[in-house]
Amino acid sequence: MTQKVSPVKKLTGNLTPPPDKSISHRSALFAAISEEESLIHNYSDAADPASTLKCLAQLGVQIEKNGSTVRISGAGRNGLQKPDQPLDCGNSGTTMRLLGGILAGAGVDCTMIGDESLSSRTMKRIIDPLTRMGCSITGRDGSYAPLNVRPNNGVQGIRFPLPIASAQLKSAVLLTGLFGEKPTEVIESTLSRDHTERLLELQSEPYGTGKLIRSSLDDTIPAQNYSVPGDFSAAAFWLVAGSIQPETNVHLSQVGINPSRIAAYQVLLEMGANIQKENETTAGKEPVADLTIKPSALSPIELDPALVPNCIDELPILMVAMCFAEGTSVISGAEELRHKETDRLSAMAEILTLSGASTEIKKDGIIIHGQPDFIPRPSLYPSYHDHRMAMAAAVLATRSNGVSKIKDADCTDISYPEFWDHLLNLSH
Ligand code: S3P
Repeated sequence: MTQKVSPVKKLTGNLTPPPDKSISHRSALFAAISEEESLIHNYSDAADPASTLKCLAQLGVQIEKNGSTVRISGAGRNGLQKPDQPLDCGNSGTTMRLLGGILAGAGVDCTMIGDESLSSRTMKRIIDPLTRMGCSITGRDGSYAPLNVRPNNGVQGIRFPLPIASAQLKSAVLLTGLFGEKPTEVIESTLSRDHTERLLELQSEPYGTGKLIRSSLDDTIPAQNYSVPGDFSAAAFWLVAGSIQPETNVHLSQVGINPSRIAAYQVLLEMGANIQKENETTAGKEPVADLTIKPSALSPIELDPALVPNCIDELPILMVAMCFAEGTSVISGAEELRHKETDRLSAMAEILTLSGASTEIKKDGIIIHGQPDFIPRPSLYPSYHDHRMAMAAAVLATRSNGVSKIKDADCTDISYPEFWDHLLNLSH
């Protein structure tokens, strides 16, 4: 589907962003290996979390879905059954890496596959530590899906300083660690999203500038009875869309504000955005709040590379904000963007160049020369079949002076199926 995006004069209204994708995946995965029954409210109906449910059903997990409520009868750590067919993770790196950690630990004989994009993303980062832990997990050319998992002769606890600030890698190793008699210790020096630690109630302690997290067979896996908060990564598109419009009043309800996820909010505040946070409360083990966005002039920023893991999924939309800031903004230390659903550094550089923005791409980031009165050229934007590229291009196009088009725009189904409706509802 090619989606038209018309220039927006005014962005106003209230909306609730879709349920958090990372927490939806985890709630289902952890419920599946709990000994108890879990009831998860507000489970995402996006394609990636649906891939997780489908794989779990193939593994014999009893799942009842009623609207956005999911009831899962936990099979326990050792109750997952050998599937008849390969487990299709679709486009979802979180499914492949986190479920891969569980299956390798449990030693379930199976094959995991993914779509073209997922099959080109490296899985070596999980294969190496899981192999060290005594698991049998192999990939095509040693690195890529299909992944083959075979029974193991017991999981060894390891001490693993994370070589990359990746929550998927951290989670995969900790999940495999749940199958070892001796503890697995993951050390992270740059803190990434901590949903796994929170939802599994894993022990963790400060370690240097970061923390050390432990998992082992001794950890009881709690039932997952809670309501999934709104996805901050989805909300971020409206934080920026609102901040770059001259007339804005957008109210977002029940947005997840886990500190390990909201660096983009802090960056936008530092750039001068006018975003109010109110009604702070919790959804399960996660903090949530309402956010209201009003217009404001933006200043450029040199993004602190230490913040990159906490805004990795929001960097593309932050690049759009930077185009409207008065002066030069710089993102560095973000080479991981090249390993996402597409090479998001190159993709964004191409999208911004098409719009007429002045950018310089670097190996690990981008330099953007912004101006408050920037008018993006009406364009036919590629989405690279990447949900976040499609949504970033759409937000950029709202400030154009003519109609733009986004190619293969239905890829937003991966994380935010209602995105185009929400854009239409807020646009005036
Ligand atoms: C995720 C972690 C991040 C993020 C992805 C979701 C997660 O990936 O980009 O969208 O749910 O753990 P990395 O761990 O590869 O940085």
